Formats: sequence, C-alpha cells, structure tokens
Amino acid sequence: MRTQVGIVGAGPAGLMLGRLLEQAGIESVVLENRSRDYVEQRIRAGVLEQGTADMLVSAGVGDRMRREGIVHHGIELQYDGERHRIPLSDLAGGRAIVIYGQTEVVKDLIAARLASGPPLLFDVDAVSVAGIESQRPSIRFTHGGGAQTLDCDFVAGCDGFHGVCRPAIPAGALRTFERGYPFGWLGILAAVAPSNDELIYAHNERGFALLSLRSPELSRLYIQCRPDEDIAEWPDARIWEELHARLGIDGWSLAEGPVLEKGITGMRSFVTEPMQYGRLFLAGDAAHIVPPTGAKGLNLAIADVKLLAAGLVDYYERGDRRGLEAYSAACLRRVWRAEHFSWWMTSMLHRDDTAGDFGLVLQLSQLRYLTTSTAAATTLAENYVGLETV
Ligand code: FAD
Ligand code: DHB
Repeated sequence: MRTQVGIVGAGPAGLMLGRLLEQAGIESVVLENRSRDYVEQRIRAGVLEQGTADMLVSAGVGDRMRREGIVHHGIELQYDGERHRIPLSDLAGGRAIVIYGQTEVVKDLIAARLASGPPLLFDVDAVSVAGIESQRPSIRFTHGGGAQTLDCDFVAGCDGFHGVCRPAIPAGALRTFERGYPFGWLGILAAVAPSNDELIYAHNERGFALLSLRSPELSRLYIQCRPDEDIAEWPDARIWEELHARLGIDGWSLAEGPVLEKGITGMRSFVTEPMQYGRLFLAGDAAHIVPPTGAKGLNLAIADVKLLAAGLVDYYERGDRRGLEAYSAACLRRVWRAEHFSWWMTSMLHRDDTAGDFGLVLQLSQLRYLTTSTAAATTLAENYVGLETV
C-alpha cells in the first residue's frame, strides 16, 4: 500500500487531519487500533473553543454541531458558597464556547470519511513506524490477520499519549517536560436535565466539583478524587452525595438521574519538544497532555492539525517546506499557553493537602480577584474561549 500521508490514530487529531487533507486533494490512510464502536463511545471532552467549532464548520463536518451543540457565553465560578458569573463573550471580543461531546465530533468525522471514501481502517494491530529519517517512511501493521506495509511521504503520529509514534523517535532527539498531580477526576454521565444553564467550576473544602452537560437531557459531572481511587468504592449514591455537598448552595439543588457511565481519570501535564522528527509529525495527545480543568486537550489537538494540514498543503501545492519546518515551534507556542492555563486553573480549584492553609488562602484570594477585577476575569475568558493568536 502507498499513500501521501499515513495517519496513526483515529481520535480527533487523526480524523480532522484526514478531513483537511481530503479537502485539499491530498491522499491519506488512517489506521486505528481500536474498533469503530469503541472510538465512537469513548466519553471524553465536551467544550469546543470558538476556533475549534469554526473549524468543524469550514471542514464541512459542522452541520450536526450547529443543530445540536449548545453555545455558552459564560461560566460560573463557585467558592465560599457563592457563584460568580464570568461573562466570557463580553470579555473575549464576542467569542463563545460550544458544548458538543468529543464522541459526537468523532462520529461526525468518521461518518464523513466513510461516506467519501479515503481509507480508514479500524482494529489494526502491531502498528510500528520505520524509516522516519528517510524520504520514504512506512507504517507496518496487521489487519484482518495479514501483515501489511504502508509506504508514505509523511507519517502523522496522532495516536495519543500511549501510542507508538512518540517512542519511535530516538530518545536523545526529544526533550520532555512533565508534572504529575495528586488529583484524579471521577466523571459521570447522567440521564437528567442539567441543573444549571452554564458550567459551574466549584472550589470546595471537600474537593473540586464541575457541573457540565452534553444536551438538554444529559448532565456531565465531575468530582475531584485520588488518582489511584477504585471506582468500585464509588456507588452512585456516594457520588451524588458528594456532588450535592460540593455544588450545593442556598436556594439551588442538583437534580439526580440514572448514571449511564462513570470513570476515573488521572491528571498530568506533559510536553514533548520538538513535535517533529524527520518525516514524522506528532499532533494532539501524542505530543502533549494537559490536566482537564481548562478544557483544552481536544482543542489543542485540533489546533495542531490545522497547522500540520496547512504545512502539508504548502508542500504539495508549491513545494514550500516552510510551514512544515515551522510546525513544531508554532504549535508549541499555543501548547505552552494552554499548559500554563490548565495548570493554573487546576492549582486554583483543587483541594491540595500538600499546600496547607497558605495554599488554600491563596486560592481564595485568586478566586476573589477573578470575580471582582475585569482585568483578571478577561485573562481567564480569553484563554478559556481560546486565543486567536498566541
Ligand atoms: P486521542 O483521542 O487519544 O486519539 C488517539 C487515537 O489513537 C485513539 O483512537 C487510539 O485508540 C489510537 N491509537 C493509540 N495507539 C495506537 C496505535 N498503536 N495504532 C493505531 N492507533 C492507535 N479533555 C478535556 O478537555 N476534557 C475532558 O473531560 C477530558 N477527559 C478525558 C478523559 C480521558 C480518559 C482522556 C484519556 C482524555 C481526556 N481529555 C479531556 C483529553 C482529550 O480527550 C484529548 O486531549 C483528546 O482526545 C486528544 O485527541 P487526540 O486525537 O490527540 O488523541
Ligand atoms: C468538560 C470537561 C472539562 O475538562 C471541562 O473543563 C469542562 C467540561 C466536559 O466534559 O463537559
């Protein structure tokens, strides 16, 4: 098999890259080691920045998002038993966020690709990349029992944090930056109308909690827990009890409903530099991870492949390599902004027993500043909706 761009991974990064290349008439093959069903059901992010939503539309895969996505112009910060609205759009030049699940983005991209024809193979095994320092890199894999080799001009490593592409780069060629957190998030999807019109990020002495949503009938809720916590210790009743305790304020109550899904996610910050080696380009979680508090992971993945697709188009249409050469540095500017924002939001909102009373009072001071100073709130707003230039 031969193609122009071999894409490893059918998450948001790989699928969107394939879509952008298809629009520009560049061939690609997408290889995914999980099943279509698994990839479409895996519940993850839900907040699209304005720029991400705009890209879905310009890529011709935004129709359902425009119908079903819910535009939000603000979020609420809760601390000391009170809620304070941050008017995102007023502070960030009219820009907004769209609530639309990553599962739905992935379903729309898969449906578009399968309808128009370029190869997208699920359930591939034993994926490895070779020859990335040469002009003719290749991807080896097995599919339906048979071993295959896909020869490419370029390989896009869109295979997430645990993929095979980043480890294919010689360790000495990469610099990595990492920070762990003593926190995890326990997330649930519940069949109940959201109890608030906007997201609530709640600072609480029992730990952080977040109220989000997926649709008028589906709530998405998170509570801070230990990263190594066993989900078996969290029957639904205990989760609701904790959500009531952390999100509740006078005159408001949280509506409960059947829990459709629940899981625990650890948190880390991670960046690898550069995001390219020879003819292998990394994008999305394969190159960087943020803790989820800033809602940036999915948005960064989409921002990466926008730049990668533009660089590949310049190369194929005009033989111009400058976009590809500048790819890593251009991505990393946005990545580090998001790393800082996500670390900052995480540090401000989570209960951290290692930080002591000093840490707690600093958090509350910062929250008060954010909710009383337009300058401080603007910093949060423009980062949250996504900066146009970084
Ligand atoms: P991924 O979505 O990870 O896609 C990579 C794809 O590559 C996967 O489909 C994987 O199966 C495939 N793959 C892996 N290895 C191979 C291989 N060897 N061969 C072929 N294919 C391979 N962000 C938020 O903003 N909010 C959240 O609430 C949130 N929750 C999250 C929960 C979890 C459990 C995780 C892991 C992430 C979460 N994120 C969240 C982050 C966000 O979902 C990611 O940043 C986003 O999925 C990145 O997209 P991606 O395409 O780069 O990677
Ligand atoms: C959601 C996830 C986030 O990480 C976040 O900051 C806000 C909302 C969500 O899944 O809805």
